[in-house]
Amino acid sequence: MGIAEGRVVVVTGAGRGLGRAHALAFAAEGAKVVVNDLGVSADGAGASQSPAEEVVAEIRAAGGEAVAHGGDIATTEGAASLIATAVETFGGIDTLVNNAGFLRDRMLVNLDEDDWDAVMRVHLKGHFLPLKHAAQWWRAEAKAGRQRLARVVNTSSGAGLLGSVGQGNYSAAKAGIVGLTLVASAEMGRYGVQVNALAPAARTRMTEATFADTMAAPGEGAFDGMAPENVSPLVVWLGSDGSEGVTGRVFEAEAGRITVMEGWRPGPTADKGARWTPAEAGEAASKLLAEAERPQPVYGAR
Ligand SMILES: NC(=O)c1ccc[n+]([C@@H]2O[C@H](COP(=O)([O-])OP(=O)(O)OC[C@H]3O[C@@H](n4cnc5c(N)ncnc54)[C@H](O)[C@@H]3O)[C@@H](O)[C@H]2O)c1
Repeated sequence: MGIAEGRVVVVTGAGRGLGRAHALAFAAEGAKVVVNDLGVSADGAGASQSPAEEVVAEIRAAGGEAVAHGGDIATTEGAASLIATAVETFGGIDTLVNNAGFLRDRMLVNLDEDDWDAVMRVHLKGHFLPLKHAAQWWRAEAKAGRQRLARVVNTSSGAGLLGSVGQGNYSAAKAGIVGLTLVASAEMGRYGVQVNALAPAARTRMTEATFADTMAAPGEGAFDGMAPENVSPLVVWLGSDGSEGVTGRVFEAEAGRITVMEGWRPGPTADKGARWTPAEAGEAASKLLAEAERPQPVYGAR
């Protein structure tokens, strides 16, 4: 028996890269998988059904159950039809893995409004809409007395947690996904839904250029640390019954390493009990900064 036996799992952007690895890993653990992918280029252009269909064929060839969905998850129509596909094909949905996305990297001074909008749309709205439609289904089931052990795994990034030079749009979207995760976890717990976020690192077409020097596949038989398949086991566990009680958390997963990311919390504080003058506020803030932990460096900062 796999740890996801009989669960219905929806993975967005599962035609290649990390999403494909997650879909195959869920299927290997007994899940029925809805493989979504719009089949766009690395910067979001075009569309093709082939990537999703190829992954479905791989799952079926290995004896698993899967169905393809080729819609755009950042539209109401695409998100609604994605959840409807799970319900109509497999009778419901147990786990949603929001993963689809693409990059339009530029320094802020050169970042076009279109590149801002496209990246915010695919990541942030592309998380919100499938989450909303799944949440509506889970709430209706809970109200009808059929509450599920429902799971959502959202995909953030180290860029969203620490910042990344040249990725202002992407970092803002991925930080937004963490905020969305915290709210969804707090709102949806009453319907049996757990919501966590993942910051992965793996060699995919998205990162080949950025990490070219460190991400080449090793020789035959060696542990290929940057293979996307190394990230998927944690995702499958978070998406299974076994993660009961884990919600509103952010994990990093890379190679053989899993890290719980600890987020914003109040640090040193001072309270005058009245309004500061600007000079006093500066003096107080400087003292507090001297006591506070130094922030982690932004990726790519010199
Ligand atoms: N690879 C890494 O190291 C890394 C690091 C941090 C975060 N991430 C995140 O992991 C996720 C997967 O990235 P990847 O590296 O596998 O990239 P990838 O380009 O290999 O895969 C992304 C997939 O999403 C699909 N997609 C894009 N827009 C879509 C839309 N509107 N609707 C449906 N599908 C759509 C693409 O067609 C593609 O198949 C992304 O959210 C990415 O930001 C990746």
